[in-house]
Amino acid sequence: GRLVVLVSGSGTNLQALLDACADPGYGARVVAVGSDRDGTEGLARAERAGVPTFVERVGDHHSRDAWDEALAATVASYEPDLVVLAGFMKLVGEPFLAAHGGRTVNTHPALSPSFPGMHGPRDALAHGVKVTGATLFVVDAGVDTGVILAQSAVPVRDDDDVETLHERIKAAERAMLTDTVGRMVREGFTVEGRRARLG
Ligand code: GRF
Repeated sequence: GRLVVLVSGSGTNLQALLDACADPGYGARVVAVGSDRDGTEGLARAERAGVPTFVERVGDHHSRDAWDEALAATVASYEPDLVVLAGFMKLVGEPFLAAHGGRTVNTHPALSPSFPGMHGPRDALAHGVKVTGATLFVVDAGVDTGVILAQSAVPVRDDDDVETLHERIKAAERAMLTDTVGRMVREGFTVEGRRARLG
């Protein structure tokens, strides 16, 4: 399966996918990596792996919809079977979802529906939950509201701060992401209402 991965930051989730794709049995390869900003470590990881990259900056477009459409067109040019948002810090809108909805997944560092948005680990810590984790879902027009494909739970420790908690989440997140994406490309998946099934 052909994966296009969108990143905004360090790209450790992307790196996990690149490493998983190195196994011929995994059944997928990353055909392009895109970002909303230049010079991120995630783009550097793609370049080191010899994977084509592209940047689509919101500021380069006269409207948010124009950016959405440009991003959708660039992604489409790589003919993805699956688009993976992995630490991508922009919401994709209707123009993008019109083109790639239903085959775009996003990973979020919390157990949805808890703690949507930009600060999942911080919000979980502040709330005092004892268990949090990561969620992989099919992207819809909401903020981290899509149909859930997989989740992975981690304990919150009494001495955690946001960084130590997020690192523990990210270790579980990488495994969840690579395992689930691999199964999706090899076995397929179906969504009925709010329930997704692999295979
Ligand atoms: C991940 O935990 C992702 O879920 C969240 O930010 C982190 C990005 O990490 N949105 P990386 O860029 O994959 O290292």
